[in-house]
Amino acid sequence: MASVVELAPSILSANFAQLGAEAKAALEGGGTVLHLDVMDGHFVPNLTIGPPVVASLRKTIPEVTFDCHLMIENPDEFIPAFAEAGVNWISVHQEACVHLDRTLHLISSHGCKPGVVINPATPVRALDEVLEIVHHVLIMSVNPGFGAQHFIPNSLKKVEELARIRNARGLEFRIEIDGGVALDTIGDIVRAGAEILVAGNAVFSHGDIRENAQALLRAARSAAAASKPAPRMIRTAAALRNSKTDRQRRRT
Ligand code: DX5
Ligand code: ZN
Repeated sequence: MASVVELAPSILSANFAQLGAEAKAALEGGGTVLHLDVMDGHFVPNLTIGPPVVASLRKTIPEVTFDCHLMIENPDEFIPAFAEAGVNWISVHQEACVHLDRTLHLISSHGCKPGVVINPATPVRALDEVLEIVHHVLIMSVNPGFGAQHFIPNSLKKVEELARIRNARGLEFRIEIDGGVALDTIGDIVRAGAEILVAGNAVFSHGDIRENAQALLRAARSAAAASKPAPRMIRTAAALRNSKTDRQRRRT
């Protein structure tokens, strides 16, 4: 069920005077999803970008998936404009949506993949009723609003719980994590089951952007490879599946 890990550089920590060039550098370093943090000064105590900036970025980066993380009140009012600006995925906070199901359908109706986000204090069970209709679930591993905060370790349990639920219910959503993703946390994050790794500070705030992205991806891939089941266990699992199929066949 789990898919390949991907790095989603968050432009929040980029130099906004050189946004296009820095975003491109992070993608050249191996980022495959560009994470765009939209803040309104109400839902979170900070302000960032709106649709015009996204539309400009889209002109300079035509191909890559744009992952728009809305940390705003009344997201329904802005979803059409961000879709029009060229984003591919839009995620909204469970805490900000009174009619979450309606909002997720609104995102789909504008041709974007719907995602839902929960803050550190919100339990995974708050998402029970929408897991079947989301493309991704974003676990916040810091309180949203700012880059470069400390990773909250409890979010690992939430990632594991989500992965278990996905497996038990046979669902398809992808698991994304956002906040404090860095070289010293990324191994545990991947082992817990996160697949889309948002990183701002660790990519843009020091040194060479391409090299930072490459180093994060290397660490993520090696953790993913180390946590794969051994070949013997895979054969056993396949044998069990086949024998179950045989039993079912005999019954029909
Ligand atoms: C925080 C934002 C994040 C942030 C990532 O509200 O949603 O995307 O940029 O955090 P760091 O800088 O810790 O990677
Ligand atoms: Zn974010």
